[in-house]
Amino acid sequence: MKRRFGIFILCFLFTIPFIVLVASQSNSYPYDYEQLSENERLVIRFSHVVGEDTPKGMAARKFAELVKERSNGYIEVQVFSNGTLYKDGEEMNALSRGDIQLIAPAISKLTDFVPEISVFDLPYAFHSLDEVHEFAESEAGHQLTEKLKEHNLYALGLWDSGFKQLSNRVRPIHHYNDLANLSMRIMPSDILAEQFSTLGAIPKEYDFNAVYHELQKGSFDGQENTLTNITSKNFYTLQDYLTISNHGYLGYYILFNLEFWNSLDEDVKQLLTETLIEVQQWEWELTEKLNNETLQKIENCQCIELHYLSDEDIKVWEEKFEPVYDYYSKNYGNQFIKALPKFKSNT
Ligand code: LMR
Repeated sequence: MKRRFGIFILCFLFTIPFIVLVASQSNSYPYDYEQLSENERLVIRFSHVVGEDTPKGMAARKFAELVKERSNGYIEVQVFSNGTLYKDGEEMNALSRGDIQLIAPAISKLTDFVPEISVFDLPYAFHSLDEVHEFAESEAGHQLTEKLKEHNLYALGLWDSGFKQLSNRVRPIHHYNDLANLSMRIMPSDILAEQFSTLGAIPKEYDFNAVYHELQKGSFDGQENTLTNITSKNFYTLQDYLTISNHGYLGYYILFNLEFWNSLDEDVKQLLTETLIEVQQWEWELTEKLNNETLQKIENCQCIELHYLSDEDIKVWEEKFEPVYDYYSKNYGNQFIKALPKFKSNT
């Protein structure tokens, strides 16, 4: 009897670790999340308007892959590119409604909500992407993203598309006077409108996904964009002249619906934040590489007349754009202008 009781105790002691293990596992997620429905996984719908092979398109996919891998499939970032789910103007409403949880709009498209953010749109505000990153990470940069929170938007990071160039179908742009009377497509931002009006051009606002068809229809003469956007959407096939002016920055805030972000567990927030920081660094390097490669391809194809502004030209253009800075200061104050690296380094 004693012996049987001893065996029973031994068996019981051996089983304890398994009971503890099973009990602890029943509180954590099963290993294979593919088996779970959307309601059981954490699904983050990420909508954007550009092509797959642009810096934003590639970074969105990389972010989704890494997040899935690092959460063992529990967090699924579903990426919808090319405006297939929501276009400009629709994606912000969809984010506020909670139909999607993540977007990466061009900063210019946020200027209706936070007009001060159009400091990013000022022509020649930045001389390099490093200056953009320095500004975004400065106190002034953080103040701008804090303002987005008042609109239920949480900026987790900033991705580049690069510097914008000018294309058109009428004449080569060597001097800013060559832009006079040309109608130019812009993103919705009064600073961008002011930038072209200052040069006597006619700014016209259109959604990104409408640009190709509107160019075909001849609704406007030209447009400004980064090289990867110009080629991935074939704008250059409908334009005759391209000037490498690097006159303005185009970049994106990676925006969560703030309420959704606040509802996430701390470990999920940490995983998303750490992964985004890593992907952001990767995206910044990729942008430089892709824009350089794209320029090389355009040079080689000889399919559009190319012109480069020299450093001297750029100084002259920069002076010509001073009224745009005055317009900004008059309407939104000069706090953020003063914080731009190009002015800070002079003080
Ligand atoms: C544009 O509208 O030209 C850009 O914002 C598109 C994009 O997201 O890069």
